[in-house]
Amino acid sequence: MIRITEIAQKQVAEVLREGDRAVDATAGNGWDTLFLARLVGPDGRVYAFDIQQAALDETAALLRKNKLLERVDLIHAGHEAMASYVKEPVAAVMFNLGYLPGGDHSIVTRPESTLRGLAAALQLLKPGGLATLVLYPGHAEGKKEKEALLEYCCGLDASTFGVVHARLLNREKPPPELLLVKKFSR
Ligand SMILES: C[S@@+](CC[C@H](N)C(=O)[O-])C[C@H]1O[C@@H](n2cnc3c(N)ncnc32)[C@H](O)[C@@H]1O
Repeated sequence: MIRITEIAQKQVAEVLREGDRAVDATAGNGWDTLFLARLVGPDGRVYAFDIQQAALDETAALLRKNKLLERVDLIHAGHEAMASYVKEPVAAVMFNLGYLPGGDHSIVTRPESTLRGLAAALQLLKPGGLATLVLYPGHAEGKKEKEALLEYCCGLDASTFGVVHARLLNREKPPPELLLVKKFSR
């Protein structure tokens, strides 16, 4: 079984080093936050955003269980406000869009705020850094979000950013898709 979320994590593991800063733009149940917290090590820092307190509580519990809570700032705000909270360059930013698994499915990421969050993330990325976005075009809002993100990414300056769009082809229902945005080293 190939999971798009695992491909995103493998790509992040290629660029994230101990001592780095990283952002989980959609903390959810905390799996990406935990993954990032392990990679940045004791001298690194992870900023994890979510608009739902329930998601941040789940993430805190997972981190506490793994004794990694002290490496993470849990931020109850939308990722569109990222620049107000993160004031240093980051090596990786992960977005896993859509709704909180096991939570309220009407609370989903929205195209306008996701675009603002991605723009903020790309400003914060240090050269060589990577933003990953897992997209869910199988629901109506997710389809609009995917189209808006693809249009935005097609317009990014090709001398500064490289963009990859990946999807599984042999599925009937629209499966999750992946966007990778790499900021080139100078
Ligand atoms: C698919 S879940 C994330 C899954 C998570 N990465 C994990 O590993 O468990 C999407 C999350 O995005 C959150 N969300 C929705 N809009 C947001 C926004 N503007 N900023 C930050 N988080 C948002 C939802 O509350 C939900 O918890």
